[in-house]
Amino acid sequence: MEALKGRDFLGLADITPDEIQELLKLAAQLKGNQVSLRCNKVLGLLFYKASTRTRVSFSVAMYQLGGQVMDLNPNVTQVGRGEPVIDTARVLDRYLDILAIRTFEQKELETFAEYSQIPIINALTDLEHPCQVLADLLTIQERFGELSGATLTYLGDGNNVAHSLMLGCALVGMNVRVATPPAYQPEQGIVERAKQIANGRTQVMLTDDPVAAAKGAHVLYTDVWASMGQEASADERIPVFQPYQVNEQLLACADSEAIVLHCLPAHRGEEITDEVMEGTRSRIWDQAENRMHAQKALLASLLGAD
Ligand code: CP
Ligand code: NVA
Repeated sequence: MEALKGRDFLGLADITPDEIQELLKLAAQLKGNQVSLRCNKVLGLLFYKASTRTRVSFSVAMYQLGGQVMDLNPNVTQVGRGEPVIDTARVLDRYLDILAIRTFEQKELETFAEYSQIPIINALTDLEHPCQVLADLLTIQERFGELSGATLTYLGDGNNVAHSLMLGCALVGMNVRVATPPAYQPEQGIVERAKQIANGRTQVMLTDDPVAAAKGAHVLYTDVWASMGQEASADERIPVFQPYQVNEQLLACADSEAIVLHCLPAHRGEEITDEVMEGTRSRIWDQAENRMHAQKALLASLLGAD
């Protein structure tokens, strides 16, 4: 995938419909051992927030490509003591081949990208979680064969995961419905960008009605009601988000073949019931596995592995 070589991946709007299809195809081929790619490069992981899946799946993907990984935890680097981003970025650029960052502000990621030449990957910000959505789309493609024309309904907080899903679905020709409490709608800039990408060919729908949103959907998707950094408001969010819980009753409104996805970690009994998580419609564990395959394709493409 020469087209992505050397580029940043700060959000899903950074890639075209053709490029996302190529990435998903490569991810499926890597998963099926139909292709084998090698690159002797070094990936840095600079995570200001906790992570299990993203950290481990990026690490294993890089090891399997024959590369190395450096954990640049802010607690053990000068980053945690306040060294300016514009200094850190220019120094890491001289050592590493590629850098994945998990942080709060999208602006900080953009500053890293501005002050370094190496590819910068968004490993989650408050605005987007694009690597997650590559894996989500791979999971949906595995289940239905075709992405185009399918309908995904997201229920919960209209923040990072919802934003990337809106952009990702628009890029692959899927309809996307986002059901949130009125005060937790997605950011307008993302809604407009998703509509621009969809260009009237597919639906980008916002609603506060979970049942209407779930009706006939092929995928029901949820995420925690209080994201990392929002823990202080967790208790007050519970009653507001309760009607958006993914449970058997809501699942009954979806298509009879519908699958359920969750980016994890889950708060069982809040945004999703135990019954649905462990039920036959759940593809949550395949989805978690697919983080590794999708990110291996992304790393290989950004690094120009062959
Ligand atoms: N879904 C996801 O990004 O999980 P982690 O926070 O464990 O990386
Ligand atoms: N919205 C969640 C996603 C975790 C993978 C958060 O930002 O904490």
